[in-house]
Amino acid sequence: MKRLISTVTGCLLMFTFSIGQFARQNQDSIRQLTQQDHKKMMELLGITSIRPGPSGTPTAPNAANSDESKATRYTSLPDPLILNNGKRVTTAKTWWKKRRPEISELFDRELYGRVPVNVPKVKWELVSQRKDSVGKFPVIIKKLAGRVNNSAYPSISVNIDLTLTTPLNNKELVPVVMEFGFAMPSGPRPGATTNRPPVAATNRPLGPTGPTWQQQVLAEGWGYAILVPGSIQADNGAGLRSGIIGLVNKGEPRKLDDWGTLRAWAWGASRALDYFETDKAVDPKRIGIEGMSRYGKAAIVTMAYDQRFAIGFIASSGAGGAKLYRRIFGEQVENLAGSGEYHWFAGNFIKYAGPLTQNDLPVDAHELVAMCAPRPVFISSGSPNGDSWVDGKGMFLAGAYASPVYELLGRKGMGTTEFPPIETSLIDGDVAFRQHTGGHTAGPNWPIFIQFAKRYFDATDSRKMK
Ligand code: GCU
Repeated sequence: MKRLISTVTGCLLMFTFSIGQFARQNQDSIRQLTQQDHKKMMELLGITSIRPGPSGTPTAPNAANSDESKATRYTSLPDPLILNNGKRVTTAKTWWKKRRPEISELFDRELYGRVPVNVPKVKWELVSQRKDSVGKFPVIIKKLAGRVNNSAYPSISVNIDLTLTTPLNNKELVPVVMEFGFAMPSGPRPGATTNRPPVAATNRPLGPTGPTWQQQVLAEGWGYAILVPGSIQADNGAGLRSGIIGLVNKGEPRKLDDWGTLRAWAWGASRALDYFETDKAVDPKRIGIEGMSRYGKAAIVTMAYDQRFAIGFIASSGAGGAKLYRRIFGEQVENLAGSGEYHWFAGNFIKYAGPLTQNDLPVDAHELVAMCAPRPVFISSGSPNGDSWVDGKGMFLAGAYASPVYELLGRKGMGTTEFPPIETSLIDGDVAFRQHTGGHTAGPNWPIFIQFAKRYFDATDSRKMK
């Protein structure tokens, strides 16, 4: 018996060891392929090196700046209301017809990359459906798969993973808040190159006994959905030759202005919205998008590019999201352009970490917020103690500097350019901001976002069942 136990234990140990080894080898090859692809992008750009980014560890000798007096070294920001020809935009018509397309083109070409025109169609399939309850709320949960037509390149298949939870027996079409979820269908999420501590899950309850964000949403009579980003596009450079980006490129590397992972994730969110337009329980005119950290970046990119999204909850998105790139505080362009994160962007973006700088970017994050106008956006940050990497003030300022565009379109901006004390809810306008006392999480801001969203969701007449 003893022998049997020790043989079984031995086998288990060997099995665990080989799994561990396999995972390590897998990580190594991801790293290697990523570095090759990063190098290839640099070759296409004609550059051989980029500046290293600062460290996310506050005690490191090269720690990122967290001193406000050193943050503003730029002397000017691009003006969202000045056309490329130098003329000022004074009418909503010129914004829509001329200026917004100019800004969008610059984000496409230099930052997030272009979505190809020939992205194949997605067919949504209901995988399963069941009645259940979430806390005290009876719900119906639908598991859905967005099957991307891969007939042009069958060796890559993409199946978008979406779960929709709506109140059971709802009489009217419900609003839905969709989150870019952290669930990973294919292995662990590779860590970023920075020394940033691991990301917290956003669905943690408010307190030891507080309701989860899902329960808070259900309490309003709304539904929620979880979209799995990794089912659309992997979160590393090695994955750029597969996923939706690789499928369109038939397994070849990207061109310099091809879409990066953030736009691919946002594209997936748009396909989910296509599905909501067909679901009998959902009001497609009241779909919110939420994401946190890298998925906060994806959430604002989604909001900016797809005007069907009604509202955005952009949590701790930091650099590459709602934070002004020109601010020297927390994460910098150099971090984003490194091999751990460049895949989020177009290849063209790398050049801003050498020879160019963040001041050479033709647009800045306030113009990404402006692209969301006139739709409401809630910009969320954690406290400096634990979330200074995302630069709360840099995100606040992007909202404040986007406000003139909201005002031009007849809406209310942030109402101030004065950075508010922590826990102040700036939610009277259509660009909202709040810094909570927690760390790198959306958690404590959920009730305030819901309060903000209610204003819009309640104001829009919900249509009767389809
Ligand atoms: C790193 C990265 C951030 C990103 C974060 C995340 O910290 O530098 O830009 O938002 O990872 O986990 O998403």
